[in-house]
Amino acid sequence: MDLPLPFLLIFLVFLPSSAMPQRNISLGSSITATRNGSVWESSSGDFAFGFKEITDGAFLLAVWFNKIHEKTVVWWANSGNLVQRGSKVQVTTDGRLVLSEPDGQQISIAVAAGNNVAYAAMLDTGNFVLASENAVNLWQSFDQPTDTFLPTQQFIKDSRLLTRFSSDNYTNGRFKFILQEDGNLVIYTTEYPLDSVTSSRNAYWASDTVGSGYQLMFNKSGIIYLIAQNKTILKTISSDTTSTENFYHRAVLDFDGVFRHYVYPKAGRLSSGEWQEAWSVSTYIPSNICTAITEDVGSGACGFNSLCQQGDDQRPKCQCPHGYSFSDPNNEMSDCKQDFEPQSCIKNSHDKDNLFDFYEMKNTDWPLSDYEQFGSVNEDWCRDICFGDCFCAVAIFRDGKCRKKKLPLSNGRIDSSTGGKALIKYRVNNDTLSPGVENVSSNPKDSDDSTLIVAGAVLLGSSVLLNCLFLIYSYLKKRKSKTVQPLATAPGMNLQRFTYEEMEKATNGFKEEIGKGDFATVYKGSIQFENKIVVAVKKLDKVAEADKEFKNDVSAIGRTNHKNLVQLLGFCKEGPHQLLVYEFMCNGSLADFLFRKSRPRWYQRMQIAFGTARGLCYMHEECSTQIIHCDIKPQNILLDDSFTAKIGDFGLAKLLKTDQTRTITNIRGIKGYVAPEWFKSMPITAKVDVYSFGVLLLELICCRRNFEQEAEDANIVLTDWAFDCYQDGNFEVLVEDDEEAKNDIERVKRFVMIAICCIQDDPSTRPTMKKVTQMLEGAFEVPSPPDVSSFITGSSHSIYTSCY
Ligand SMILES: *[C@@H]1O[C@H](CO)[C@@H](O)[C@H](O)[C@H]1NC(C)=O
Ligand SMILES: *[C@@H]1O[C@H](CO)[C@@H](O)[C@H](O)[C@H]1NC(C)=O
Ligand SMILES: *[C@@H]1O[C@H](CO)[C@@H](O)[C@H](O)[C@H]1NC(C)=O
Ligand SMILES: *[C@@H]1O[C@H](CO)[C@@H](O)[C@H](O)[C@H]1NC(C)=O
Ligand SMILES: *[C@@H]1O[C@H](CO)[C@@H](O)[C@H](O)[C@H]1NC(C)=O
Ligand SMILES: *[C@@H]1O[C@H](CO)[C@@H](O)[C@H](O)[C@H]1NC(C)=O
Ligand SMILES: *[C@@H]1O[C@H](CO)[C@@H](O)[C@H](O)[C@H]1NC(C)=O
Repeated sequence: MDLPLPFLLIFLVFLPSSAMPQRNISLGSSITATRNGSVWESSSGDFAFGFKEITDGAFLLAVWFNKIHEKTVVWWANSGNLVQRGSKVQVTTDGRLVLSEPDGQQISIAVAAGNNVAYAAMLDTGNFVLASENAVNLWQSFDQPTDTFLPTQQFIKDSRLLTRFSSDNYTNGRFKFILQEDGNLVIYTTEYPLDSVTSSRNAYWASDTVGSGYQLMFNKSGIIYLIAQNKTILKTISSDTTSTENFYHRAVLDFDGVFRHYVYPKAGRLSSGEWQEAWSVSTYIPSNICTAITEDVGSGACGFNSLCQQGDDQRPKCQCPHGYSFSDPNNEMSDCKQDFEPQSCIKNSHDKDNLFDFYEMKNTDWPLSDYEQFGSVNEDWCRDICFGDCFCAVAIFRDGKCRKKKLPLSNGRIDSSTGGKALIKYRVNNDTLSPGVENVSSNPKDSDDSTLIVAGAVLLGSSVLLNCLFLIYSYLKKRKSKTVQPLATAPGMNLQRFTYEEMEKATNGFKEEIGKGDFATVYKGSIQFENKIVVAVKKLDKVAEADKEFKNDVSAIGRTNHKNLVQLLGFCKEGPHQLLVYEFMCNGSLADFLFRKSRPRWYQRMQIAFGTARGLCYMHEECSTQIIHCDIKPQNILLDDSFTAKIGDFGLAKLLKTDQTRTITNIRGIKGYVAPEWFKSMPITAKVDVYSFGVLLLELICCRRNFEQEAEDANIVLTDWAFDCYQDGNFEVLVEDDEEAKNDIERVKRFVMIAICCIQDDPSTRPTMKKVTQMLEGAFEVPSPPDVSSFITGSSHSIYTSCY
């Protein structure tokens, strides 16, 4: 029959269109990848075979549910690789299914056994087949499952589902569901990017039917069950009773590694005409994949360094820990990479390199990445050991045990059954760092009181308490200095004596000024011991006060040796020249650190409180000669490269025999860090330092100065405000906007109560520094602070005694 050409064209255009569902697909037929292109539908229209556009111009050859809005893919060809627009799939005349790309490349999708394919067909079950004349399926997509298992599909030994890579990337993922030769039905993680599984892998779910499992069934009632060869049911995996009449069913090994049975009402259209997002999960295994996977190889349910948490929707969610982000921002199954430069393992690399902190996460663990474990330790110890170890990426603290973990971390999970907490090390954002010495010294003139004593400098004497100078030399105990090999020493001390010339050389002619005080200037320098070390050289002016300062510093800290005290390394006394040489504190003073714009971490502040308390405790109780500092304030607490607090500036210190007290009358100063007895002609004891520490502790808790003009009226004086808050039982308001402190509110409470004990008016009611240290560390219960307002009004003496 001869048809006119236009008619023929119309015929050709409409023949394969979706408006004319094609049942038997005859040999030679083909469809082309174009937008809204033609497909081969099943006779009911439930399923379609064709090209599905995944991204603009890139198509997947697939089978999908065709009547529903989601067009959910149930099978795909070509290992999930996409092809370009214009690609063609054809049932060849010799009965093969061939995919041709526009560049002429041909990919064989299906080759049937034998040579007698009569037609192809998209069946209503979702099975795409190449069939013989007498309707025998010679090849079927059901025998080559991808990630989906459909009702009536056979799942025999060695059948497997392999996850796609992500929701819209159909290439291989990392999980495999397989009915093994041995009869066990299991889910594994694969040796990605291979899809293989070797015996070293443990299944994270198994039917435990070794020897009996024979076939997995998914029947028309929507029941998924495993049978033995004699057809007895060994295990029911899922039994959704909604019939396949009214519901679509599919079981999928989802890309997150969970096997889910979904159902979808066929009458899924809402009365409004909108399509309902209607796939709902009927059953899923395992019950929590985040905790189910425990393997010493592979990354677990999420990527390396990632953390898995089962959400309220029962789906696992992967997230990166603080300081890390997904290596592929569009794929939350990807590994998490560190967003910071790792800790340097080179000793003495002054940093910048070593400004790290921990981010705390409860109920979090990577159970398989331990390289060291410690029993019977406390959390602070655990933090310290990880902090000082460049390999340690995370410390887990739980039940008095501390475990160190190195990268990459695997099998991360957040789960309430985990317990304990993870301390995740990260580099502190560089804008919270102390400025370099250079930055401060470049403009020392306009510094306020808090920056006068500059970063990097060991402190200068201040004039607040001019006459607290009272030296008693007695019972000197020799202490070996760790770093200094004495050449010529002052009597009773292990200090190096330098010549003025040496000092000139060390400071390059007193070139780099790093701070200036009332009777001294501080310069940066370096001296050669075994290694070259950076030092701060304090050059004292030729005044009487400076002379006292020199003597004081040399005698007070010259003979101390404690982690929390700045170390005096040596001195120079030559004619009119008086110089003191200290270890250089590269992170400056606590005042700079604490009162800058971005608040330091709560943990660091706690550590500084501990360190300062220990240093004071040492000075008060452990030295042969008691040292009273007399001038504790944030400007006089220095921070070394790991932010360890070091008490500096002993210009005002008193050295007392343990039972000695002294009344001082002529004091200048403002009420701030200064204990009230200074103004009352009362004896000066170590309790003045306790008072100052109390104020400092409140400043550490709240990250603000004791006096803050800009605060609300009632809050200008921190000590008053803290006491009000304590009386109201409202501690949270003191650490508003500080999530970390708020999460640790019990400790905040304890610290505030300790601080209030310390700032009692009556020195005798203040605890000793030893007791303060114990209370801070939690070794000693904090008594309820007093119910008095004496220290606020200053009018009456405290009647409270239990702090002591
Ligand atoms: C293709 O289909 C989309 C919706 O599926 C429709 O919005 C669009 O108009 C169609 N384009 C053509 C060329 O038919
Ligand atoms: C498809 O082909 C088979 C076998 O040749 C035949 O039995 C069946 O009727 C055909 N169906 C249609 C709709 O043509
Ligand atoms: C799918 O993921 C694989 C593995 O990351 C990647 O190589 C491929 O380019 C991705 N494909 C698409 C279409 O995004
Ligand atoms: C069927 O096979 C299973 C497992 O092999 C066995 O436990 C059961 O007894 C058998 N049942 C019958 C009726 O043979
Ligand atoms: C599906 O399997 C279950 C369990 O064996 C059985 O009770 C049910 O009758 C089966 N349904 C169909 C349609 O075969
Ligand atoms: C500080 O961090 C930012 C962002 O991480 C980076 O761009 C910048 O270079 C860093 N600055 C210094 C001085 O390291
Ligand atoms: C301030 O410190 C930063 C970071 O250490 C440095 O890059 C910059 O050059 C310094 N500025 C001055 C003026 O020294």
